[in-house]
Amino acid sequence: MAKAVVLASGSGSNFQVLAEAIQPGRHQICRLICDRKKAAVFQRAKKLGITAAYVSYYQRERQTAEQEIAQIILDCGADIIFLAGFMRLLSPDFVDQFKGKIVNIHPALLPRHPGAHGIRDSYYSRDKELGVTIHFVDQGMDTGPIIAQTSFIRSGKESLEEIETRLHQLEHKLYPETALLLLEKADRKSGTNDQQSQEPVPGTMQ
Ligand code: GRF
Repeated sequence: MAKAVVLASGSGSNFQVLAEAIQPGRHQICRLICDRKKAAVFQRAKKLGITAAYVSYYQRERQTAEQEIAQIILDCGADIIFLAGFMRLLSPDFVDQFKGKIVNIHPALLPRHPGAHGIRDSYYSRDKELGVTIHFVDQGMDTGPIIAQTSFIRSGKESLEEIETRLHQLEHKLYPETALLLLEKADRKSGTNDQQSQEPVPGTMQ
């Protein structure tokens, strides 16, 4: 069995689809970690029966909050850390500590439109093809090795809201599928002390 921790900050729709795909199977989400006390994702975790932890960044050094996060990850023995709308940039030290184990979802076709406004930036671009990306986290902002992408061609007549809905639908399909493949891979490697490699997962590039 491989274990995952999910880090989220907001609504948690991606956390929910990950939990629904992973929980009934042979892997486990051992913790949700959230940096916003009132985030809706806590309600989702409660309904799903997943233990949640609030880690405050308020009036604290980022390093202090990250040490708390790292301790939770180590205590529950997580093999993979899934970022699902976690709105904090992780420090280089944290990324190094969990090198090759941190995975993020971004609502644009990276390397185009990194940053906090991927959907809006994609929408107002001249791009015909829009989509979502799952990638390993490195020290940059949405710059790590790409694991999987999926996309669609827009007509140009869609509203921003319609594009947003479509991108979220893609996320909700691709993230659980990719997560399960990554957990399988981590499970096969466990016991060998191998580090999770940063190669694309076969079959998930679209
Ligand atoms: C998603 O669009 C994700 O790609 C981005 O933040 C959003 C989180 O949404 N990083 P939710 O909290 O999972 O509903």
